[in-house]
Order: sequence, then C-alpha cells, then structure tokens
Amino acid sequence: MFTINENYLRLPGSYLFSDIAKRVNKYTQENPDKSIIRLGIGDVTLPLTKSVITALHEATDEMGKAETFRGYGPEHGYDFLRQAIIENDYIPRGIKLDIDEIFISDGAKSDCGNIGDILGLDNKVAVCDPVYPVYVDTNAMAGRAGFYGKDGKWDNLIYMPCTEENGFIPSLPTEIPDVIYLCFPNNPTGTHATKDQLQMWVDYALNNKSLILYDAAYEAYITEDLPHSIYEIDGAKQCAIEFRSFSKNAGFTGTRCAFTIVPKELKCGNVSLNSLWSRRVSTKFNGVPYIVQKAAEAVYTPQGKAEIKQSVGYYMNNAKVIREGLKAAGFKVWGGVNAPYIWMKTPDNLTSWEFFDQLLNKAQVVGTPGSGFGPSGEGYFRLTAFGSAENTVKAIDRIKNAF
Ligand code: MLT
Repeated sequence: MFTINENYLRLPGSYLFSDIAKRVNKYTQENPDKSIIRLGIGDVTLPLTKSVITALHEATDEMGKAETFRGYGPEHGYDFLRQAIIENDYIPRGIKLDIDEIFISDGAKSDCGNIGDILGLDNKVAVCDPVYPVYVDTNAMAGRAGFYGKDGKWDNLIYMPCTEENGFIPSLPTEIPDVIYLCFPNNPTGTHATKDQLQMWVDYALNNKSLILYDAAYEAYITEDLPHSIYEIDGAKQCAIEFRSFSKNAGFTGTRCAFTIVPKELKCGNVSLNSLWSRRVSTKFNGVPYIVQKAAEAVYTPQGKAEIKQSVGYYMNNAKVIREGLKAAGFKVWGGVNAPYIWMKTPDNLTSWEFFDQLLNKAQVVGTPGSGFGPSGEGYFRLTAFGSAENTVKAIDRIKNAF
C-alpha cells in the first residue's frame, strides 16, 4: 500500500493567497453589484512592454521554421540570457559571476521552495516573522518545520521577529540556524536592509557555517542607495544563494522567468552547492521556454530598460499614493519607498483578519492580513502598489472614508 508525505497533513488551511481568493469570491457572489479593488496579492497589472512583446513574436516565428526551431533547451538556461544577466545586473555592481553560476528558472517562488532538495532534512531553518509563506510551507512539506502549534508557529523553525521596535529588520537569532531565509526589499513589510546590516548577516553566516537564502525578487524597486544583491557584501559568495525574478520588474508573473545564483565558492565541507543544484536542475527541469527567455533578454536592451524603468516608476508612484494617503489619514505605515509593498498598522486594534473583513465590506478593497505572514504580523496589514493608478487612488479614498 502506498503512503503519502504526511508532512502535508500538518499544514494549516490552504496557501494564504488561495484563502484570500476564496473569501473574495464568496463576497463577490453575495454582492455582485459591488466593484472590488484588489491590492492583495502582489500581481502586476501593466501589460508586457513593447520590446518584450516584439521579442516574443520574433522568437515565436523562429519556432515556426525548421531552420530556427528549437526543442529542448539547456536546462540551466540559454547563454544569451545568462550573459545578459551578468552584464546588466551584476558587473555594474562590481560583482563577477561565471555563466554557470546562473540558473534560469520558471520563478523565484519555485526555486525558493525547490532549493530544499539539495539541503539536509535535519537543517534548522530560520525565517523572518512576518515572512513570505513559501519559505515556511515548503520547509514544512519537507519535514523540517516540525509541528504547527496553536500559537501559529512551527515548533522546529526559528522565528526572527520583525517588529516596529527593530524597524522590521530581524536581529541575529540566539539559537544558531543552519539555513536563514532573508528577503530584501522585504515582502511583506516593504523595508530594506542597509549594507552594514547585510554584512552583519553574512559575517554571522560565515562564522556559524550557515547558509543564507536571499530573495531579491523586488530589487528593481530600490530607490535609495542600498544593496541590490547580497553579493555586494564581502564574503557573501561563500555563504549565500540569491533568487531573482522577472515577475515584478518586467511583469512576468504570468509569463514565468526567474533566475537563481549559486556561486561556485559556496561549499558545504568540500561539496559544491553549485554542482548539487546543477544536478538537481538537469534532472528535474527541462528549462524555461526559448521564447520566454528571449522575452527576458529583451528586458536588458536599451529600450527594454527604459520601459522597465517606466513601469517600476508607475508602481512606485502608486506606492507613494498609498503611503502618503494613509499617513495623511492618520494611519501608521512603513515600506513603499524601496519596495512595492506598504505595511500598515490596523486601526482600532483590529486583528489583521478583522480589518480584512471590514475593508472588504465597507470599502470593497482587498489587502493581505499581516497575520497570514506569521504571528508577528498580527495587527498589521499589507497593501500592494501593483494595482492601476486609478484604482489605487480610489482605494485610498475609500479607505479614508470608511475608517
Ligand atoms: C505576494 O503577494 O506576496 C506575491 O505575489 C507572492 C509571489 O510573488 O509569489
């Protein structure tokens, strides 16, 4: 008789954003006349840019001709894209990478979860609290998180509270983790760490032989002089893997393309994590479609870069509208300066879910309850800047009128 992975049975409810979608669907069915503004899941709303669409069309035409048709591509990604990434994202920041340190994937979400395949099941994992739920749930699925308790915590994870007191930047944990997830600019709080703060983490990881899993999916939204990559920090190549994505900067949430950097200097004893990840990728993955990689390459052309700058600017303008609008109305808010997320304190001591319900019922605005990201998120709420400019302005007006 077959058995199942019982770790799945320990998972509470469903995935956060599926839960929210169900509640919103129920509301829309019961209130078909109400127009909902969705500032919940961080999904982009601007269409793909002109240069991306042109590249997609051209690559599609290539696929339709025998002489330029392509079947299986290299599992790790085409060199044209890997090279463009090195030249545009890393060399200008003083970071040297070899082409085989870059792995093109279908998403940072997938890779943040899949990376666990090459890590021991007995690793003790540390996560920020609040945190992007994928890090927690994938470790729970693998059996590293232990049991989920009534306090909303897994008993085998190390939680690093990110609170108003520490400016939502976690302090070094006293119990030493083997694996540390960091996400900057941060989802969900929208804060970003300074170079000194990241150096502290890298030194800590090197001293304790810990691995940092660094999610930099939102780096395009940094507006201040802050690190875009963990490899801007001395020693990071010996202790960190970095995840990047085209989803949020170039609108690829539905097109799917991302990449992961596993430096060759990163070793566990004398085993190279780069070789393990390479082995894992070539066994379990057949690569991102050629046409999608061509589209991602177009993001790095001069026109592509100008277009991306415009889209990011558009969303950051929304972030400003949310941030300034809520502040002026007396709410306490963070983020929205180096990230497309705004983190707010719920009014009147409402719990995160109470505020979610009130916001939906009184203002028809959907956001994400902070407690869905972890116990320290209770009493907070996340809004995304990825809506349309018009809806963002409307949403803030509605919130101001409702509370
Ligand atoms: C979010 O809303 O946190 C993101 O959209 C999730 C994701 O990128 O998978």
